[in-house]
Amino acid sequence: MEPGDDFVAARRVLQAARSLVALTGAGISAESGIPTFRDAQTGLWSQFDAMALASEPGFRARPERAWDWYAERRAGVQRTEPNAAHRALAAFEQRHPGRLRIVTQNVDDLHQRAGSRDVLRLHGDILRVRWLDPCPLQPACDTDAAAAGRPPRCARCGNLLRPDVVWFGEVLPAAALAAAEAAVARCDALLVVGTSGSVWPAAGLAGLARRAGAQVLIVNRAASEIDSEATQILRGAAAALLPALLAPI
Ligand code: OAD
Repeated sequence: MEPGDDFVAARRVLQAARSLVALTGAGISAESGIPTFRDAQTGLWSQFDAMALASEPGFRARPERAWDWYAERRAGVQRTEPNAAHRALAAFEQRHPGRLRIVTQNVDDLHQRAGSRDVLRLHGDILRVRWLDPCPLQPACDTDAAAAGRPPRCARCGNLLRPDVVWFGEVLPAAALAAAEAAVARCDALLVVGTSGSVWPAAGLAGLARRAGAQVLIVNRAASEIDSEATQILRGAAAALLPALLAPI
């Protein structure tokens, strides 16, 4: 089957962009076996209570339950491998140094394991931990020294470890968000892959790109909340579409 006009046009936009940003969400890792959040049936938030597991009050109320849930997700991420979509982005970056920046909402490390270097993480890193409360001691206690537990607890100050991810109600890492906004505001094209566009401020990056005059190309299996910002939408699976979209012409 010949690729359609839409596909050819999208490919041209991406290949012509001197500055390209890819905004990725859970959908890009779905074909690696990591569940998304909002897909009906399979999405994590259709099975689990987001506020109980992914908010500070939820963690403080039942730390063991939330810690165990993240430990399971962390083990799940470690069992997976990057898929063809992650690899296509990494290969594009390697072929065109300095032209592609990835901004991801994902807390997995599949972009990095695929070989992408220029990755801004908006929602943290599930493979890392940090203290739940600011450490009261000087020098600050080392998270590596936390005693085993669920969650591990500091033997010196009693602090608990938590996953180094952004929970509901928390602000995004300021430097990563500022860098993402700056990159999006000056890019020629924004490639949005596998996000429902329902979580802000990440979702706002599509509108920011559009208002700054960039082409906004959305790749998603289904409709998203930011489709109105798109200059073009390609419906389908990221691992099927990205290798062909980003392959050398
Ligand atoms: P969602 O679960 O909200 O959306 C996933 C999107 O991916 C949906 O629009 C699906 O249609 C699409 N999708 C699923 N499989 C796909 C595939 N194989 N190829 C292409 N698209 C596919 O995930 P996010 O938008 O990433 O927050 O969610 C945003 C944030 O909400 C997450 O970062 C997380 C969550 O609460 C934190 O971890 C802080």
